[in-house]
Amino acid sequence: MRSWSRLSFLALLVLEELTLAEYVRTKKSTVAPVGAEVLTVGVIGDYGWTGWSPSPPHFCLEVLPELQAAGLVIPNEVLNDCDPGDISFINNATALQLDTSTYIGQVCAVKNCTAFVSVGDNFYDSGIDFTTGGIQRFQEAWVGMYSQGIFDTAPWYQCLGNHDIVKGQSGVDFQTKVAPIYDPRWNFGTQGLPYWTYDLMGKDWTATFVVVDSDCFLSSYLKNTSVYVNPYTEACYADRQTQINFLANTFAKSTATWKFLQLHHGYMSSATNETELAPLVEIVAQHNGVVLNGHDHCLGHYYSNNTNFILSGAAGYPQAGDCNYGIPLGPYAKFLGANPMSAANGFVTMDISKQFINVEYYLRDMQFEDGDLYPVPYDLHPSYSFQITQHAT
Ligand SMILES: *[C@@H]1O[C@H](CO)[C@@H](O)[C@H](O)[C@H]1NC(C)=O
Ligand SMILES: *[C@@H]1O[C@H](CO)[C@@H](O)[C@H](O)[C@H]1NC(C)=O
Ligand SMILES: *[C@@H]1O[C@H](CO)[C@@H](O)[C@H](O)[C@H]1NC(C)=O
Ligand SMILES: *[C@@H]1O[C@H](CO)[C@@H](O)[C@H](O)[C@H]1NC(C)=O
Ligand SMILES: *[C@@H]1O[C@H](CO)[C@@H](O)[C@H](O)[C@H]1NC(C)=O
Repeated sequence: MRSWSRLSFLALLVLEELTLAEYVRTKKSTVAPVGAEVLTVGVIGDYGWTGWSPSPPHFCLEVLPELQAAGLVIPNEVLNDCDPGDISFINNATALQLDTSTYIGQVCAVKNCTAFVSVGDNFYDSGIDFTTGGIQRFQEAWVGMYSQGIFDTAPWYQCLGNHDIVKGQSGVDFQTKVAPIYDPRWNFGTQGLPYWTYDLMGKDWTATFVVVDSDCFLSSYLKNTSVYVNPYTEACYADRQTQINFLANTFAKSTATWKFLQLHHGYMSSATNETELAPLVEIVAQHNGVVLNGHDHCLGHYYSNNTNFILSGAAGYPQAGDCNYGIPLGPYAKFLGANPMSAANGFVTMDISKQFINVEYYLRDMQFEDGDLYPVPYDLHPSYSFQITQHAT
């Protein structure tokens, strides 16, 4: 009853953008505690598989090609939900997301993580929008999935990935406008925009995070053959200078000890270096900032252009190829959470203090009844860590 009336109220508000923005502003969201000497946050990405049901094989394999041959326009979300790779992953991916959420909960109980920083791909395969199906997916793949123990109270600072924008503006609207009201742990700013900023404040330090939608920077997403082309990506690609300016202005105004760019795609990668993100990375480099990204389904640490790139894309379906099977493609690759057979599930923690940021990579021992997909002798200890000591400027 209560949720129904809340949602119908929301439906009324969505009709009136300004009122909604004001409502979100006045609504109490859950945020990280202020004033800690050391604050631990989890960096998590590429997780939202649970509850995705692909179209039936008869449709994807037989009907769809016929429709295409007949020249019918196929909606991108329908095409994407027939992705043969993703369909073959779904059973394993759902189980791996669940096991990894439990693992993250265990590590975070020990480490006292007080917030999560998301790098996107929150809902496979085509995101969620403001429909009954979207609401059910939100409840199942996020609200219910991350609800036990430490997750009960920890806020998440959110970001969009490519899977989140397949449905275009309506998908963006759900995550930026509806989700923060549905669950106060879901933070996405107060403006209903896909880019936003927040500060974490410690006892004697501050960290400024700027979130952008990197989907808006990839020209390949505008091709008429891309499942990502839609009026949202077309408009935000044309307007990407707005996000560049937002990052530049926010970092310029901030006097924080640490500055982070939080986005989905990797400028540095072992699979595809997204070089079109260069205008953003230049700004980060100018301010001695740090880049947090996902997209590649593994954990990695890259160092290039005097900048640390922390890859955390392993909370769902890990893929060894995304970390080049553990083989560094150059000295920029400092750590890769993969081997020739598989990549590890896991996430990254950052213990933020005034003097340094302790960055730890937690790789899950992926034991299952028939074997171990990624043996880690003691997975409540980090498999890799490094420290950032150079303050932002
Ligand atoms: C966890 O960290 C927060 C923020 O630093 C702090 O307020 C809280 O007391 C800590 N809890 C435990 C159990 O250490
Ligand atoms: C699913 O996991 C099983 C082991 O549990 C493995 O044998 C199989 O290859 C996996 N399938 C995919 C598509 O990853
Ligand atoms: C996509 O664009 C190419 C080249 O611009 C064109 O030849 C093709 O007909 C277009 N396809 C569709 C489905 O619009
Ligand atoms: C990414 O860039 C680095 C450094 O320029 C290069 O060594 C590496 O081969 C590139 N990675 C890919 C996948 O092309
Ligand atoms: C990073 O460094 C490379 C090699 O020096 C340079 O070509 C590239 O433009 C730099 N990228 C950024 C974003 O500054």
